[in-house]
Amino acid sequence: MKRSKLVFIGIVMVLILTQACTQNKPNATNDLDRKVDSVLSLMTLEEKIGQMTLFTSDMDQTGAFIRKEYEEDIKSGRAGAIFNAYGVAYTRKLQEMAVNNTRLGIPLIFGYDVIHGHRTIFPVPLAEAASWDLTAIEEAARIAAIEASAEGLHWTFAPMCDISRDPRWGRIVEGAGEDVYLASEIARARVRGFQGEGIGSLNSVVACVKHYAAYGAPQAGRDYHSVDMSERTLRETFLPPYKAALDEGALTVMTSFNDLNGIPATASKYLMTEILRDEWGFEGFVVTDYTSIMELMFHGVAGDTLEASRLSIEAGVDMDMQAGFYQKALPQLVRNGKVSEELINTAVRRILKVKFMLGLFEDPFRFCSEEREKTLVMSADNLEAARDMARKSAVLLKNENNLLPLSKDLKTIAVIGPMADAQRDMIGSWSAAGDWTKSITLLTGIREAVSQSRIIHAMGCTTDGTDMKGFKEAVDAARQADVVVLALGENYWMSGEAASRADIGLPGVQQELADEILKTGKPIVVVLFTGRPLTINKLQQHAQSILLGWFPGTMGGSALADILFGDFNPSGRLPVTFPAHVGQVPNHYDMRNTGRPFDANNKYTSKYLDVPNEPLYEFGFGLGYTTFEWSELSVNQTSMSEQDSVKVSIQVTNSGLMTGTETVQLYIHDPVASVARPVKQLKKFMQLTLEPGQTGVAEFYINSLDLSFFRADMSFGTEKGNYMIMVGPSSNTIRSAKIELI
Ligand code: BGC
Repeated sequence: MKRSKLVFIGIVMVLILTQACTQNKPNATNDLDRKVDSVLSLMTLEEKIGQMTLFTSDMDQTGAFIRKEYEEDIKSGRAGAIFNAYGVAYTRKLQEMAVNNTRLGIPLIFGYDVIHGHRTIFPVPLAEAASWDLTAIEEAARIAAIEASAEGLHWTFAPMCDISRDPRWGRIVEGAGEDVYLASEIARARVRGFQGEGIGSLNSVVACVKHYAAYGAPQAGRDYHSVDMSERTLRETFLPPYKAALDEGALTVMTSFNDLNGIPATASKYLMTEILRDEWGFEGFVVTDYTSIMELMFHGVAGDTLEASRLSIEAGVDMDMQAGFYQKALPQLVRNGKVSEELINTAVRRILKVKFMLGLFEDPFRFCSEEREKTLVMSADNLEAARDMARKSAVLLKNENNLLPLSKDLKTIAVIGPMADAQRDMIGSWSAAGDWTKSITLLTGIREAVSQSRIIHAMGCTTDGTDMKGFKEAVDAARQADVVVLALGENYWMSGEAASRADIGLPGVQQELADEILKTGKPIVVVLFTGRPLTINKLQQHAQSILLGWFPGTMGGSALADILFGDFNPSGRLPVTFPAHVGQVPNHYDMRNTGRPFDANNKYTSKYLDVPNEPLYEFGFGLGYTTFEWSELSVNQTSMSEQDSVKVSIQVTNSGLMTGTETVQLYIHDPVASVARPVKQLKKFMQLTLEPGQTGVAEFYINSLDLSFFRADMSFGTEKGNYMIMVGPSSNTIRSAKIELI
């Protein structure tokens, strides 16, 4: 019989069984399970394992291509998913390979790292977190999902939910910073954005919560390094954002590369089954991060392909990304009775279920519409949203004598520095299918904003080189100008995967360049581009203004010019502490007090001999172009029971001259408990946008869940007694009140 005939019969059988099951069963979940089982019952062991195998597509000068061996795998049902392939024509071609050639015609799922935008690139995730604007963050993920799904994609490897408190780690750029609550809320917002109206809708993509777990805490900030942490820290700080994303409905999880207390995550039954499935009730599928099944051999917990595969499947890992180990080892392991076929069935069920939910069994090509691809990608609205997000993400760190905003009537502006016209760097790392040649640099943004002014541009030096020959030209430019905009920072590749740095100062000779420009005595605005906190003490001391632009995305230059010239009042707040010295790391705001808290007059208290304890900029910090006045804090009752809640409110008045957004942050501290509690922990926040003279009220309700924590015996709950409620514009500037839990 001809192959195509067999395929046809296969599909018809699946559909008949599918329909029969659908008609008989009352509830949707059962229907889905039965559909999945009907397909599973037709599959050979090799076909099942194929569904558990994910391979990459590649790219060269001629464009996208699939390796010959993977093409064979797709055609024979030995690969069920492909990543790094996008575009309607290309994904259709690969999908045809699968459905037209395999016995059962099971469609492929296409995954990709759509991290901060697909074609329209938004600010890097850490920057977006600085907006504290959950609606805007959700919208950014929504647009990313619309563009990605319009290009044939079904699945994004995001959100990255790794808390990180170590700016040496390059991947701090991909997360939402150091705070448990902020990162959890952002994780939820991103899942809502990606999965939109629900999986199955044409403009949604399946979210993948990564990198589970605790990847953001590698020893000494070195990427892929071991993680050693207490159960308390894991549960209090590192697990909540993953859990929040799953509670919001994320359907897949990616394992992390690291070992946790000696057990690599990919081989950890504790993480992948006991916590993820048994405690949290996760029902989607787990994919490895890249070749991490193979890496079990380098970790030293598996001697060969068979052992690595067995450990992973037993831990609860459903899909093997790129190692090809499952494909090689599982058939043999099952046949030799080392791995039960039921384990395989469970994994395949989870994967098929997602494919059903995506609607791929009804129409494998439903995400392949040229029309959608043409109209939805990089639309004017999407670009405007990216510009707005970049404005909201920028953080004003210093503004002496209100140098900013600059007048649009300045005659001459010198735009100096290696990041001034750095088009590639604007979109940062993990910029997916973003086309950097379309990004707007700071120089272009400034030119567009003040077309009447004379703009002199000089690079001065490269970002990380040692050559100072360009200094003279830069100093000459500065001398001619009314104001200098000095664009400094890191290249895009200095943040991201495999981009750890032991020295987190300005790279190369940029500080020396700044020193020379400062000597001219001209007013200087530093615009800082980075994916991590940098130690910039000298700039903080000497430059009049510092605007943190991060890696702001496709529209970054325009957005930053909007801020520089006062068309937008900056409102970003740091989602991560900027240490004053790398030796302070980790230096996060929610530390415990210690038994010897800092006392300037007592040597034997917790401090350094050579640097202060204080960070350069604290968590939650950020300035703007207006001023706010805060009332005292009011609580509607000073005690509450477990079932009760307390209303906390504070009035904020815009006492300046420009409309502005203030972020009201609420922190809690439990001064006496069975375990030492952090000096403060963010529990709520809200943003108030106020016109000059306008007063807004921030109201929060505190309930027992907000007061709960892992007690001495690791049970989760409250303890009776006093709690401090602290409210303010950053983690440092606080008004407080006491409440008692009775
Ligand atoms: C990264 C993941 C990413 C994967 C696929 C890995 O190197 O750690 O975050 O999703 O590659 O591109």
